[in-house]
Amino acid sequence: MYEKTIQVRKEKKLTQKELAKMSGVSIKTINRYENGIKISFDSEKKILEALDIDFINYCNINNERNKMSFDKQAEEYEESKYINQKNSVLQLINKGYPYKEKRVLDLGAGTGFVSREISKFAKEVYAVDISDLMIKKIEILNQENNLKNVIPVKGDAHNLKFEDNFFDTVITRLTFHHLKDVKKALKEIKRVLKNFGELIIVDIITSEKDDEAELQNSFDKIRDFSHNKFLKLNELKKSIKEENFYNVEIDIWKEERVFKDWIKLAKYKDEGEVLFNLMKYFAINGPKLGLDLEYKDLKLTFKQKMVLIKVINIK
Ligand SMILES: C[S@@+](CC[C@H](N)C(=O)[O-])C[C@H]1O[C@@H](n2cnc3c(N)ncnc32)[C@H](O)[C@@H]1O
Repeated sequence: MYEKTIQVRKEKKLTQKELAKMSGVSIKTINRYENGIKISFDSEKKILEALDIDFINYCNINNERNKMSFDKQAEEYEESKYINQKNSVLQLINKGYPYKEKRVLDLGAGTGFVSREISKFAKEVYAVDISDLMIKKIEILNQENNLKNVIPVKGDAHNLKFEDNFFDTVITRLTFHHLKDVKKALKEIKRVLKNFGELIIVDIITSEKDDEAELQNSFDKIRDFSHNKFLKLNELKKSIKEENFYNVEIDIWKEERVFKDWIKLAKYKDEGEVLFNLMKYFAINGPKLGLDLEYKDLKLTFKQKMVLIKVINIK
């Protein structure tokens, strides 16, 4: 993104000082940004707006949105208790057992938390992610942990750069709701997965009721603009069935979210407490929107429905 802003600033014959004045962002921050250093999301938005770069349209390119959002999150991502959950990863590992001698794809690997856990059991894990900074973080953690069998690969789930029948198992945790085209990703997974290979998807799902699902997705999109859509279980099952995966095994459970931790993970600043107040209103007055919204002792909590789906690829 910063390369594009340098290009536009130069086309408009603006100096960094002039851009600082127009955008209200300090020259020091603009300089950092143009050197590829991470700056706050708000400052970046102001710079883009000052340069007349259509922020929304720019971000609407789904992959750009994801890269932008997760580049921002990479450094502290794994500190979140919602990510750093050994138990849920164990559940995933048990589902795919035995991993020994298996070549695994972790699609949308983030900082590689799941990849590293699985690498203890598998022959090798390819950790694919669209965000450069997530991939860098995996490389750093690989070095720190002296890991040789986690292979970071920058890539897009819609267009995988692997040959057909390359993997024994594909796992993907908390990534499907970021994808613009789940069906295309499933086709790619099918292609790179061997015959009788396993696919294990873990993701958040919405209520089956349209209006509740819409609101759940809206709240989440405010917090993290890179989200495409949480699917209903039925929508996810339908897409999987259409790609001819078989033996569907499903586990469903709920996970509690505390509002302040939930927004922190996406680095979202709830200015004016807009999102907080909206959700608090529903928590107090209902309906609970299929999220078990609760406001108690000044604390706003809710529960997200999670699903683990395991299927077998039959070609
Ligand atoms: C919520 S994170 C989950 C990370 C990891 N799977 C975990 O459970 O800790 C979603 C990840 O998907 C990645 N992602 C989003 N769109 C992608 C795409 N089209 N192809 C590959 N990765 C993508 C993001 O960069 C991000 O790291």
